[in-house]
Parts: sequence; C-alpha cells; structure tokens
Amino acid sequence: MPTNQFLEYASVIKTLEVAPHTFLTEFSSPKISAAVKPGQFVMLSFPGSLDPLLPRAFSVCEVKGDGVVLFYVAVGKGTRLLSKLRNGEEVILNGPLGRGFPELARGEKVWLAVGGSGAAVLPIVITSAIDSGAFPEAFYGARTMKQLMHFDNIQIEFATDDGSAGFHGTVVELLKLKMKKDRPDKIFACGPSPMLASVQREFGEKVRTYISVETPMACGMGLCQGCPVRKKDGTGYYLACKDGPVFDTNEIEVATGAI
Ligand SMILES: Cc1cc2nc3c(=O)[nH]c(=O)nc-3n(C[C@H](O)[C@H](O)[C@H](O)COP(=O)(O)OP(=O)(O)OC[C@H]3O[C@@H](n4cnc5c(N)ncnc54)[C@H](O)[C@@H]3O)c2cc1C
Ligand code: FES
Repeated sequence: MPTNQFLEYASVIKTLEVAPHTFLTEFSSPKISAAVKPGQFVMLSFPGSLDPLLPRAFSVCEVKGDGVVLFYVAVGKGTRLLSKLRNGEEVILNGPLGRGFPELARGEKVWLAVGGSGAAVLPIVITSAIDSGAFPEAFYGARTMKQLMHFDNIQIEFATDDGSAGFHGTVVELLKLKMKKDRPDKIFACGPSPMLASVQREFGEKVRTYISVETPMACGMGLCQGCPVRKKDGTGYYLACKDGPVFDTNEIEVATGAI
C-alpha cells in the first residue's frame, strides 16, 4: 500500500439529513483527513459484514480537524445502511485514493459545476481553492429546489430544471450564459454522467476542463481492472480509480466512463 494511503476504522461522529434522502456523515479518521486532496475518494466497507459485498466509493466532502465528512444520497443498500449507523459505530475507510483535481495557482479563476451526489466535492474544492489564493465560483444544479442543499460559508449559484430556485435550466446552461460575459481559467465538474458529457462537449475545447467520473468501482485501487475509461487518442483505457476519477476532458473520449 502506498505510504500516503491508509486503511482506517472510522467511527461515526454525527449524521445529518440535509435534504430528503441526502446525508452528511462525519467520521473520525485522523490519517485520511490529514492526507486527502480535493477530488480524491475513499472506499467504504462495513466491518464484519459481507452485505454489501463490495466496498462503495465516496468522494471526501470536507475535512474537519481529525475527521472527514461524506455526502451521499441514500439510493441503495450501501448508502441506506450508512445513513442508519449510530454515533460511535464504525466503518472501514481505505484512502485517500485516486487523482483529484489539479492544484490551483494564486489568482486563477475556477468554476466548479456540480449536480446530484457530485455536490460532495463542493466544500473541499472551494475551501482548498480559496486557501491557494485562487478565485473559485460554485454552481449547483438539480431537478428541483428540494434536492438542493446549502453548505456553510460557501456561496453557490443554484440552477433548477423546474425553476423553483436560482436559474431556470441546467447548470450547464447557466455556465454557458455566464461564459458570454466572463471566462474562467479552469472548469471543474462532478455529477451525473449526462451532465459531465454536456460539460465536456460545451466547454472542453474552450477552457481547460476537468471532470470527475463516477464509473462504478469494485476495488478502487487498480487491481480488478473493472473501471475502464476509454482514452481519447484511441490507445486503450485508463482506470477511473487509479488514473482518475478526475480527468482532463482532452484525455478521455466520453464522460460516461462506459466502454
Ligand atoms: C469515485 C466515486 C466517487 C463517488 N462519490 C460519491 C459520493 O460522494 N456520494 C454518493 O452518494 N455517491 C458517490 N459515489 C457513488 C457510490 O459509490 C455508490 O455507487 C452510490 O452511493 C450507491 O451505493 P448504494 O450501495 O447505496 O447503491 P447500490 O445498491 O449499489 O445501487 C442501488 C441502485 O442505485 C443506483 N445508483 C447508484 N448510484 C446512484 C446515484 N448516485 N444516484 C442515483 N442512483 C444511483 C444504482 O444504479 C442501482 O440501481 C461515487 C462513486 C465513485 C466511483
Ligand atoms: S475499481 Fe478495480 S481497477 Fe478500478
């Protein structure tokens, strides 16, 4: 195991339901919290249980002292189990894993577009960008207002498909509108595959654009070969867990992560 990767028993400090079926859980995790970079993830499993059999990948949302916070939507077995853990109960975290977003230079302007469970990266990316002296702006899209949440101390421009909050339209349409008056040095995006494909198509050739793909993962460490992402130059495949999950849109063929 690389020296900056750890296997930690991490106990739940607290869980908050921040929107319907949407949770923030804070874990005590001194080693991973000290090592993680924005856009990296952990593989989470439940000790003493083979159900679910495979660990689940989660982007680290925030570092709080010796703890890490995960943001998730309870859609299936793993996330429902996670949301029901009581304070003090433990999971096993393996991480930090993967290649995160590139470091930003002082004065660089970055736009971060997120949607769905991709909103997990919002706090860690924005906080780190501000610490680097960069100028980040955050954009968060959802179908409707009920699916959106606010993060403490972070200014966000919202977009909803039904117009119930913020801009009426998708987060990509919002960025296209803003692009008529302004232009960032970089765009970062994290969200569902159709959103990432749209970001790649609209901005990939105009601005340095980086997307975090959510290709399903079994091991998270480059061992099972189960997360291929086709290279743009036709020379084969990257592994989303090891070479990504963050890719420059010029590196990969489609944002979906599918073969
Ligand atoms: C690098 C990486 C980072 C990730 N980060 C996060 C994160 O920060 N937060 C998070 O919630 N998830 C994240 N995911 C997805 C996560 O690993 C799980 O797949 C997801 O949480 C569902 O797990 P589950 O066991 O609850 O559902 P499962 O029982 O595995 O799946 C149940 C059903 O839900 C569907 N499903 C899976 N994911 C989603 C989704 N996001 N929205 C709607 N339906 C879905 C499945 O296709 C399946 O039909 C990430 C995935 C990757 C690869
Ligand atoms: S998840 Fe096993 S190689 Fe990527």
